[in-house]
Amino acid sequence: SPPPRDQGEAGVQEATSYWMSESGVVDLMVLPGPSPAHIFRQYAALTGVTPLPPKFALGYHQCRWNYNDEADVRYVHGQFEALDIPYDVLWLDIEHTDGKRYFTWDSFKFPEPKKMQEELAATGRKMVTIVDPHIKKDSNYKVYQEAHEKELFIKTKDGNELDGWCWPGSSAYLDFTSAEVRDWWAGRFAYDKYEGSTPSLYTWNDMNEPSVFNGPEVSMNKDAKSLAGVEHREWHNLYGMYMQQATAEGLLKRNPEQDKRPFVLSRSFYAGSQRWGAIWTGDNACKWDHLEASVPMLLTLGLCGITFSGADVGGFLGKGGGYGDPTAELFTRWFQAGAYTPFFRGHAHHDSKRREPWTFDDETTARLREIGKQRYQLLSYWYTLFYFAETTGMPTMRPLWVEFPTDPKTFDMDHEFMSGGALLVRPVTSPLATSATVYFPGTCPWYDIVDGTQYMGSSEATVSAPIDKVPVYQRGGTIVPRQMRLRRSSALMGADPYTLVIAPGANGTAEGSLYLDAGDGFSYKKGEYQLATYKYADGVLSVSKVAGTTFAATNLLERVELLGVKPPTFAVLKQAGVEKSLSFLYNEASKRLVLRKPAVLMAPAVDWTITLL
Ligand code: GLC
Repeated sequence: SPPPRDQGEAGVQEATSYWMSESGVVDLMVLPGPSPAHIFRQYAALTGVTPLPPKFALGYHQCRWNYNDEADVRYVHGQFEALDIPYDVLWLDIEHTDGKRYFTWDSFKFPEPKKMQEELAATGRKMVTIVDPHIKKDSNYKVYQEAHEKELFIKTKDGNELDGWCWPGSSAYLDFTSAEVRDWWAGRFAYDKYEGSTPSLYTWNDMNEPSVFNGPEVSMNKDAKSLAGVEHREWHNLYGMYMQQATAEGLLKRNPEQDKRPFVLSRSFYAGSQRWGAIWTGDNACKWDHLEASVPMLLTLGLCGITFSGADVGGFLGKGGGYGDPTAELFTRWFQAGAYTPFFRGHAHHDSKRREPWTFDDETTARLREIGKQRYQLLSYWYTLFYFAETTGMPTMRPLWVEFPTDPKTFDMDHEFMSGGALLVRPVTSPLATSATVYFPGTCPWYDIVDGTQYMGSSEATVSAPIDKVPVYQRGGTIVPRQMRLRRSSALMGADPYTLVIAPGANGTAEGSLYLDAGDGFSYKKGEYQLATYKYADGVLSVSKVAGTTFAATNLLERVELLGVKPPTFAVLKQAGVEKSLSFLYNEASKRLVLRKPAVLMAPAVDWTITLL
């Protein structure tokens, strides 16, 4: 049981914790802060940052164990297209392989994998296949045979190749702690080695704890040995990270000319895994309390540097796992919560009923489309958050106290969260709810993102939250860029114009930013990007480019929305000495002002201003 909390001398609560190490020594690092933002920067200096993901990876991912064959893939993809539900990535689980031999395809179900991927790619979509670390012991399987001959597998304490039971049956486990093995593994992703793979194919690493069904604690014996002769008890926690690293390096290596960022999802992770890709929270179940628990789990991961993370939307274990299948209500609420988390993927166990967004009823499909739309409107907002995650270590999904460290009410609050610094999200995580209690932190006003209703900081309100409502609020003092045209994938949005939504703070000012680049590749590291900041004060909206140089972003500003303001008499756009008056609409009830068609660049060479008179 945990030790009791003591009262310290100054009356400040103190906590005592005990640390034990099964082997080796514990290095204790002290991060002095003082602010949460300082701590994230300091922790990032120790363990690394999340590199900017390719933009598509921030869209919706559709997974299932399994999409059965190429016809099934075409059907699922076609439904998203036909029903106008945005998605970017279709995933294939272990059944796509020839008998769980990773890097292969079941030739009956997936006879033309390249053609399948190319068809998806032609519509801007990507595919992910699973590649696990256990390698089927089969001398006719090239991957096994080569690794066996080169002696790349973990050994038992007696020096024999370890034999463990996992999805393919009797399996050997690659020693990812060895740089040589990682290099060999990275080479497996080359197009001539991983046959049937194309540049739009990305990777999912699972079971990398490492998971051994017949081993102690479902893993390897503690005395199993790495090639360097080090016991499993030493590197258990590192195994998954090294595997994800090797995979990410493989995806990088195979694309020397295509300038593509890798995307790898892993289940196991360690401090520093953020450098290699995304993490999901593993096998949750289709239960309301697992939806509820996903929020503190993802917040904790984010605090530990792993900000590109998500939980299986819908709850992985359905009927097959001894749980029910999700009702339309649970699935909708989960989709709502997931849409505001960094990694947004629907997934399901093979024994559960189909649960793609159109499998419930027409009303639910329409609702899920709306939620998907909300996610895609904010893709560039998320992308900007990830730019800051890479450059400052700031998590993209944050507990309230990170933004409001002087508001003690937020300290133990983990059922509400912030998507970045501007949006407060209060997911509904209980059945039959028609309302929710929301705490609005700080001293700023807050604005409902749908109807503009204003709430004061440091207050609690019971808000209406029927099934089609996601309680999300924009913080006063912020400007959020949105892309309002419904597109079916991120690839189609690159050139789309933006709307800037301005939520003035208590003093009437607001600020926000937008990061723009090619959406993939590494040219941004050479300065090919634009970072623009927008400021609103004394009735004037102005833009300035703060960083980046050579990227030519052609996106226009098509609308400005101001929340909680009085109607102006005129709105005037000024750029390079030229003035143009803007037409506007004002809604008395919601106090929302919409300025129409400024049609200036989001990241202009010559700054512009919009003045309300
Ligand atoms: C594990 C994963 C799950 C996956 C399954 C089959 O349970 O966590 O996501 O679907 O294995 O590969």
